[in-house]
Amino acid sequence: MNITNETATNSDKKISILFRNTIPEIPSTTFGAFAIYKYPAKFIPQVIAYVLREYAQPGMTIFDPFGGYGTVGIVSRVYGYDYELWDLNPLIKTIHDTAIISKIEMNAWQLLEDMKKSQLEFLPTWSNLAYWFPAEFMPVLAKTWGFVNSLPQESKAMFLIPLIKTTRYFSCSDEKIHKLYKSKQSKKKIEQLLQTDWQAKFYTMLKKQMETLMKKIGEHNQLNPKSVRCSIKPGVDVLETNLDHEVNIMITSPPYLQAQEYIRSTKLELFWLGYDEDYIRELSKKEIPYRKVKEFEIHSEKYHQCRAGIIEEHLKELYDRYFYSILTVFSNLSQNVKDYMFIFVGPAQIRTTPIPIDDIIVEHLQTLGWYHEVTFIDTIVGRSMFQSKINPASGFADSRMKTEHLIVMKRQG
Ligand SMILES: C[S@@+](CC[C@H](N)C(=O)[O-])C[C@H]1O[C@@H](n2cnc3c(N)ncnc32)[C@H](O)[C@@H]1O
Repeated sequence: MNITNETATNSDKKISILFRNTIPEIPSTTFGAFAIYKYPAKFIPQVIAYVLREYAQPGMTIFDPFGGYGTVGIVSRVYGYDYELWDLNPLIKTIHDTAIISKIEMNAWQLLEDMKKSQLEFLPTWSNLAYWFPAEFMPVLAKTWGFVNSLPQESKAMFLIPLIKTTRYFSCSDEKIHKLYKSKQSKKKIEQLLQTDWQAKFYTMLKKQMETLMKKIGEHNQLNPKSVRCSIKPGVDVLETNLDHEVNIMITSPPYLQAQEYIRSTKLELFWLGYDEDYIRELSKKEIPYRKVKEFEIHSEKYHQCRAGIIEEHLKELYDRYFYSILTVFSNLSQNVKDYMFIFVGPAQIRTTPIPIDDIIVEHLQTLGWYHEVTFIDTIVGRSMFQSKINPASGFADSRMKTEHLIVMKRQG
């Protein structure tokens, strides 16, 4: 444990910590399967490892309702705990299936050759497909995806993420921007590609991506992940779903108050993975904090104090939607959490008003019979956030979060 200082603020305890330095067996934040795909605002594995090492007991089940990349599951596996992951974004399934590959497919290079000769075809049912991909690329994309979709699960897992990344590169979207966006540079990239032997480049890139993935999987297996029970639920809206069984520990990180939309930024990937337009549109409408949500009684003085300082109606609405959503979710789910809840949030601000999200959650959960043990304050170093200069929530320049807070709540009695 690497506690650097300890101060008591308000009625609660806050402890500074550098999670990334607490777990010697996970040497970096991007080690092994923890960095096979860029998912915005994902946990660093050390946060979860720290929680499991300090608080979990053998036989416990770990749960993350906002699973995202699935870090909670991947770390649980390393320490031998059963786990359950939910997320609105179905990408969680693809990332998880890939991250838990235990054996590297030995005939991957042969399959790559077979792919080039394959007659199978798949194209997404996406009305904007022709806007994002030049017609010249379509036959190769169709053939590659048709072949990969026909593979059995274990082989398919080796291909999907490398192919998703390659497909994104061969699209007109700017890869540096999370949201789908055609920029001058990305249009130029495609024009230049078309003048080269782009087909050879496509297969070379796919192969390179597969090599990188294999290296990461090999590295990950040094952590000796265990064979445990797990349940992955993609496409779950936490506001419409409740736990129908008990879990021991919930570790989660809800969407940020200033989050950009996850579904919209990953829709190109979702279309190629076979999800259809209506389904993706429905998922987009359910994203927190941009969705409509029922009013919810919030038991936190700080919530009401901060709210009083927000003047503009649309910001007040965003603020309310955010807290109604996450506190409805935590209040409902907490009924089936037996031991601990760990909630990881970043402090945020609306205009110039700082919003102490962690304190608000703590105050509310305390009224439901949860004991606040401690809040750890971690400093963000080079974490992959949405790279947007303008905060979509406020329309103002983003003030980047500098610290993130892990709230530790223990069931009382
Ligand atoms: C901060 S991210 C979680 C990242 C995760 N801790 C990780 O390690 O990748 C928040 C997640 O909430 C999900 N989300 C947003 N609205 C949701 C909803 N209504 N139901 C379920 N998940 C939702 C997003 O898709 C996103 O993956």
